[in-house]
Amino acid sequence: MKIVFGGTCSNSINVAEELARALDADLGGLEVKRFPDEETYVRILNDVKGKHVIYVQSTAPPQDTCLVELFITLDTFRRLKAKRIDVIIPYLAYARQDKEFKRGEAISARTVAKILNAIRVDRLYTLDVHLYRRLGPFSLYGVKAYNLSAGRALARYVKSNLGIEAPATIIPDRGHTPLADMIRDIVGDHFVFLRKRRKTGWEYPKIYEKTADLQRKDVVIFDDILGTGGTILKATQFALAKGAKRVVVAVTHALFIDNARERLREAGVSQIVTTDSILQPESVIPIAPIMAEYLKSRI
Ligand code: R5P
Repeated sequence: MKIVFGGTCSNSINVAEELARALDADLGGLEVKRFPDEETYVRILNDVKGKHVIYVQSTAPPQDTCLVELFITLDTFRRLKAKRIDVIIPYLAYARQDKEFKRGEAISARTVAKILNAIRVDRLYTLDVHLYRRLGPFSLYGVKAYNLSAGRALARYVKSNLGIEAPATIIPDRGHTPLADMIRDIVGDHFVFLRKRRKTGWEYPKIYEKTADLQRKDVVIFDDILGTGGTILKATQFALAKGAKRVVVAVTHALFIDNARERLREAGVSQIVTTDSILQPESVIPIAPIMAEYLKSRI
């Protein structure tokens, strides 16, 4: 018997509700509160013994609070003897810190995985996770994980709703070729991959690309995360300098840190579309059907 729970972070509860409907599973309840000193209180309101638990909890900002809620909820499912625990973390915090870039740095993604392993989570599902540049199954330091993608849904939306017939597609990261392969049949074959370098997450990246034929083209910029907006802003400036007629942006997880939205508008972005992984006015693609389609055939 399957039972779906949603944590309190981002849009997790709505995603859990939609997922329970799509999977024809029960919807469970959680009581989550903050103690006066800000520690997290979690209580599971259903009997999960012997059941297959599917728990949706995003770890988008505030990441650390969301991670603690995730860990203590999962550990409680385990202690209460759930038969199987699948966790869906659409936005997986700390995925970008997956190696020691400078000596002595924390490999935070590994620490997150170690805790999930210690709880004996059966499967982790995530969405367009950064750095795991291939889609499909991967191992997050020993945790059996699966990287799903909103790329096709976003590409279809851009094609059918924004009146863009033959766009040029900019992907601001050379490692994201699997995304291009996945959407080629929808957006066509005109891809521009940018080489960028950024010293720290606090700075805007530098774009090293010199040439691209974007004269009078409608340009769509695809990315996994819109954080400070620095990457998209630089890619937009690049596209407009190369003569692009119009720039639209399609991203899976849109954080809009500080006034990223306004800065992008001022830089010339005409429209941004994203998923409801993090609920924003620009959220046009629900992620629950993407998760449900994959899970239906496998659980
Ligand atoms: C990094 O390589 C990612 O694919 C995104 O481009 C990056 O996380 C976006 O961050 P920001 O909006 O802060 O530039």
